[in-house]
Amino acid sequence: MHRLITSTLAIATLATVGCIRPDGAKKTLPGKELFAACASCHGETGTGQANIAAPNIAGLPAWYVEAQLVKYRSGARGNHPEDLEGLRMRPMSRQMMDEAEVKAVSAYVATLPAVKQAPSVQGGDASAGAAAYATCLACHGDKGQGNQALNAPPLAGQYDWYLVNQLKKFKAGVRGANPADITGGQMRPMSMTLADEQAMKNVVAHISTFSR
Ligand code: HEC
Ligand code: HEC
Repeated sequence: MHRLITSTLAIATLATVGCIRPDGAKKTLPGKELFAACASCHGETGTGQANIAAPNIAGLPAWYVEAQLVKYRSGARGNHPEDLEGLRMRPMSRQMMDEAEVKAVSAYVATLPAVKQAPSVQGGDASAGAAAYATCLACHGDKGQGNQALNAPPLAGQYDWYLVNQLKKFKAGVRGANPADITGGQMRPMSMTLADEQAMKNVVAHISTFSR
């Protein structure tokens, strides 16, 4: 990645935004360039990789990506000692030098075409899950499309293993229990309506029937 600015004109233009690079130049990198640091785990297309537990982020709305990056950066998410995947993501969120770069990379992620991931979790009962989803739809929508007004992200198209894992983390207080995580704190009690792992698999099997 080219972080050096050779043109004095560029330095003059960009001096008011961004932060100081190791070379002393101030510059806010474009989202596409920043995303190079994300592609090793989330893939060039942002669709994630199951073997390293990196979720599908392609096409997630910019407001949600930005909110999560802000939380990872502050430690409101991904800082619990048992949050193995979150602890992997957290240092990555700090690749961005400032708020302008967080916004830029979030906007870029939102432009990546959304791709629905095929289900892989075994043993979920989608029809039992449909009944449980009645609790979820007020916030996440009848098709898992999300609702910005309620800070609820889209769930449709996400890997089923990631969704089950997040529900476990919310319930165990590994995600959403930090007092600084306001929106995670809204989700946490909802995870508690799911009695056990089977109930989580059921509701996720239902979510997997939604198209993206
Ligand atoms: C070292 C691998 C790795 C790199 C590099 C990485 N991530 Fe992640 N990311 C993860 C993992 C693993 C998770 C899942 C964390 C969890 O399960 O809680 C994640 C989660 C996320 C989430 C939360 C998704 C959701 O649905 O809540 C966002 C947003 C995200 N990453 C964006 C990025 C961006 C933007 C970059 C580049 C600046 C990046 N990641 C770089 C591994 C990585
Ligand atoms: C009161 C509104 C509300 C209800 C009801 C609700 N959620 Fe959520 N949910 C949220 C919010 C807000 C977030 C985002 C949390 C954050 O910002 O970290 C979220 C996040 C999630 C995530 C993490 C997604 C990701 O990409 O990491 C999953 C999975 C989830 N909800 C599943 C469910 C399920 C299943 C139900 C029903 C049992 C449900 N939610 C009910 C508000 C809600």
